[in-house]
Amino acid sequence: MEFENSLNFAQQLDAKDPLRKYREQFHFPKVNDKDVIYFTGNSLGLQPKRTQQFVNDIMTDWKNLAVEGHFHAEKSWWDYHERLAAPLAKVVGAKPQEVSVMNTLTVNLHMLMVSFYRPTKTRYKIICEEKAFPSDQYMLNSQVKFHGFDPDEAIVEVKKREGENFWRTEDIIATINEVGDELALLLIGGVNYYNGQVFNMKEITKAAKDQGAYVGWDLAHGAGNVALELHDWGVDFAAWCSYKYMNSGPGNASGIFVHEQYLNTTDIPRFEGWWGTKKETRFLMKPEFEPMANADAWQVSNPPVLALAPYLASLEMFEEVGMKALIEKRNCIVAYLEFVLGEIDKEVEGTFEILTPKDRGCQLSVFLHGQGKALFHYLMDQGVVTDWREPNVIRLAPAPFYCSYEDMFRFGQILKDGITKNLP
Ligand SMILES: Cc1ncc(COP(=O)(O)O)c(C=O)c1O
Repeated sequence: MEFENSLNFAQQLDAKDPLRKYREQFHFPKVNDKDVIYFTGNSLGLQPKRTQQFVNDIMTDWKNLAVEGHFHAEKSWWDYHERLAAPLAKVVGAKPQEVSVMNTLTVNLHMLMVSFYRPTKTRYKIICEEKAFPSDQYMLNSQVKFHGFDPDEAIVEVKKREGENFWRTEDIIATINEVGDELALLLIGGVNYYNGQVFNMKEITKAAKDQGAYVGWDLAHGAGNVALELHDWGVDFAAWCSYKYMNSGPGNASGIFVHEQYLNTTDIPRFEGWWGTKKETRFLMKPEFEPMANADAWQVSNPPVLALAPYLASLEMFEEVGMKALIEKRNCIVAYLEFVLGEIDKEVEGTFEILTPKDRGCQLSVFLHGQGKALFHYLMDQGVVTDWREPNVIRLAPAPFYCSYEDMFRFGQILKDGITKNLP
């Protein structure tokens, strides 16, 4: 499609957008009495309007039923999390039994490492990407140390090539083959938080599995953003948070994926708790742990229902729309944003540069030359919410559920004004 950098053209795209009615279904913060242009759905998604009711229902059931709510609330609490598995499985390309919701992301990664990082004297190395999200680095370092290994030796970081802003699949696969039978685990953020790159999860998974390693993906920036086929790719495990593209609220619960081959067995190490035992016998309070036949076997505590309610509200919306339609709009709106940036660049030449490679989801990371934080603050003051990453990067993620093409056009105009002001 031939794009035009005009308000009229952007409004025509909005008029044709099959998802346009969803914009009205989210709460937008306001600046100067106007809805903001929200680019930080990759950090914290906006609140869907229907979420309040889901939370209120729990509060009302708690008020009226107290402990009886566990079994007699309309959406009973003791198995509340089970309602999330089927819709969530569709988002990540899994079977419903392979998905569960519990805890928070880094906690879940630690829990899954119990099952999938089982180093031996000869096979103990972990491959991850250079400058992984800090929490993942801390998690990996502490796990390696916990098992008595030296992180400098056990953790192999795949680097970008000199002068390049992205990782090459062939470099990752070459590293996997070099580490060979010393490789215990590969764990990478499937969509990089900094440059927005989507890794070739299918090929990388296959290469690491061919070396006999376990493979896990941190999908914080992947879930609800990109097409995932975790089951078919043969991924062993994955975890993601729900507060970014999944719009479930700050710090909210994490989802996990455990491949079918590890389900329904006691033959895998796991930190266990009572919500992982078979629900049929759970309340007999027996000393033996009999794992649930699905990924709920990794559940430890009874579900935090007040947290799961917004996640369920959000998943209802994902069910209505489906990943296919979200991805189609995402491709188009990101392409339009890239086009608008290109048009502005012609006018203010050389003042910024897109870091994100073509293998991308929703996010474009933009390196600002010369003007840094002052421009970022100017954008915020004008109602453009982006976020800042050192040394000079703003991240722009036009979430397809609620961002409009008109937002992209208006952003371009505000960016140009900001750049031409030559802010200090
Ligand atoms: C890639 C990635 N991994 C891990 C985390 C940590 O998430 P949590 O604080 O929910 O454990 C984040 C948070 O933004 C993230 O982006």
